[in-house]
Amino acid sequence: MSRLAGDESMRRLRAAIEGLDVGVLVNNAGVSKPYVVFLHEVDVEAWMKMVRVNLWALTEVTAAVLPGMVERGRGAIVNMGSASSEAIPSFPLCNIYAATKRYVAKFSRSLYIEYRSRGVDVQCQAPFFVATRMVPRAIRDNWLSPFLPTPDAYARAAARWIGHGSLCSPTISHQLLWCLASVLPDAVHDWLRLREHLRLRAHRKRAARASATWHAVD
Ligand SMILES: NC(=O)c1ccc[n+]([C@@H]2O[C@H](COP(=O)([O-])OP(=O)(O)OC[C@H]3O[C@@H](n4cnc5c(N)ncnc54)[C@H](OP(=O)(O)O)[C@@H]3O)[C@@H](O)[C@H]2O)c1
Repeated sequence: MSRLAGDESMRRLRAAIEGLDVGVLVNNAGVSKPYVVFLHEVDVEAWMKMVRVNLWALTEVTAAVLPGMVERGRGAIVNMGSASSEAIPSFPLCNIYAATKRYVAKFSRSLYIEYRSRGVDVQCQAPFFVATRMVPRAIRDNWLSPFLPTPDAYARAAARWIGHGSLCSPTISHQLLWCLASVLPDAVHDWLRLREHLRLRAHRKRAARASATWHAVD
């Protein structure tokens, strides 16, 4: 993305929110695809899209609303991070996604320190899986399913946590998973994650092959 493109989008964003009293900003938009792939298999356009949405857009929107919040001496910014970068040591085959979410957590924590004395609260929420269309069916149906809140349940818990620290995982089921994750050695996490993601990758490839055969017969 050229510098000019960034400047132009910032100008348009600032113009769009001029005069608005933005009290709470939730940077929720996120992209997780391509999911479970090796880095050398991903085409550059796909991972640039992930970086643009998860990292760059979140930064630009935050920078655009902050001046108004600072001027009014109040406001809250919630940035959607992920437990994949905060609660577990690696997220193999989803490396760019996890790396963008690590950026979100670090960015939020630093802003929290910078702006809390000026009345602006910045928080990163780092959930495990939530039952949205982002999560593949193979995960929604596996042993983790009792730990997957619905989007509504997540949103209710998320709203209650605003203003309570720079990093949180709002639902009780995710807090339990976080505790469990914290006692497992890193090597065990690494092994489990790689195994699970290779399994999901094989599952996805089988499904793609089946669909191709189906269309060929059709
Ligand atoms: N679901 C999970 O298990 C989970 C876990 C950890 C973190 N998160 C994070 O939570 C956030 C919400 O994810 P979700 O589960 O609700 O995923 P989702 O169902 O796939 O929704 C993604 C959202 O991002 C928006 N979006 C994507 N690309 C965009 C773009 N270029 N411009 C504008 N909007 C765009 C989508 O808008 P459209 O509807 O218009 O496409 C949609 O509202 C994400 O940041 C995600 O990384 C999710």
